[in-house]
Amino acid sequence: MQQLAESMTAGQDALLDIQNLTLSLRDQQGWVEVLNNISLSVKPKEILGVVGESGCGKSMTALSILRLLPPRDSRLGGKIMFGGQNLVSCPESQMNRIRGRHISMIFQEPMSALDPVFTVGYQIEETLRRHFKLDRREAAERAVAALDSVGIASPRHVAALYPMNLSGGMRQRVMIAMALVCEPRLLIADEPTTALDVTIQAQIMDLLLGLADRTGTAIMFITHNLGLVAQSCHRMVTMYAGQVVESGPVKDVIAGPRHPYTAGLLQSIPDSNRPRGTLPSIAGRVPSLRHMPKGCRFGPRCTFSAQPCGLSQSIENTGRREVRCNRWEELELERVEA
Ligand SMILES: Nc1ncnc2c1ncn2[C@@H]1O[C@H](COP(=O)(O)OP(=O)(O)O)[C@@H](O)[C@H]1O
Ligand SMILES: [Mg+2]
Repeated sequence: MQQLAESMTAGQDALLDIQNLTLSLRDQQGWVEVLNNISLSVKPKEILGVVGESGCGKSMTALSILRLLPPRDSRLGGKIMFGGQNLVSCPESQMNRIRGRHISMIFQEPMSALDPVFTVGYQIEETLRRHFKLDRREAAERAVAALDSVGIASPRHVAALYPMNLSGGMRQRVMIAMALVCEPRLLIADEPTTALDVTIQAQIMDLLLGLADRTGTAIMFITHNLGLVAQSCHRMVTMYAGQVVESGPVKDVIAGPRHPYTAGLLQSIPDSNRPRGTLPSIAGRVPSLRHMPKGCRFGPRCTFSAQPCGLSQSIENTGRREVRCNRWEELELERVEA
């Protein structure tokens, strides 16, 4: 593990580098491809936003990185490079050392990560003791400090409570404390504020960004809220129907989206210049996995759809930006004032 830590601080290269990741899952109807040639990277300390409507494969990408999918009913292909290792093929014992220590994750629903039968203090202690040599007392002290660091007013009291005794916002704070207590290099935050009310959402986001900044943790921030990405991320990746369709620095993408799908998502950010009640949304819905359109997967919903869209669309890389649309250079997509 020492070797892993050193190889990650050695270069300024990507912390996480996903290359042509594919994922197939098996359900009652057999195997189906869920992710198609996903390539994306996260640099050290970077905040990367991953956006797309529900069902585009954002959570499956996150679960693939941490190898949290059932091994018998899932098949991964391609590479997920982290600390010089390919997480697609490294042994489970190695994944156990990485999970929670070097890469951690927070979910939309904190109850899915917290165990109802143990106190929250005990759960944070166990996370620490899994990765560090600490006695019970030291671990307990660090758990209380972790609860304090996420703005919990009486951390010693809260440490002795069970998840059920806490409000949704408090549980989310506890989960953040648990995810960051080992100071991981990468935090995957999958819709961390979606289940919370709007005022608490902003507090939790501020907390997360502040803590990550302090510990030097990079964040892969998954959300369907483009407004949050615009405020808090350095780069962004748009996913559609199991593929990456666009990526680039947030400012550039917002000022001039190249993929019609990103442009459509941007139109649905509330904007004070637009008359109330006219928030446009993209007509239609994400195609089902077993009925993917030929050629461009967004084609059937795209207002710019034309002849070249029936052909397969490869991702085009122009330096810092990528786009998967054969027509991107001829389109005049609407911009959003950032
Ligand atoms: N066990 C499963 N078997 C087959 N398909 C699944 C399974 N779980 C999720 N999916 C499908 O995988 C796709 C991607 O889902 P997901 O990653 O959860 O989307 P997102 O997080 O972007 O909303 C969806 O079409 C979903 O229906
Ligand atoms: Mg999801």
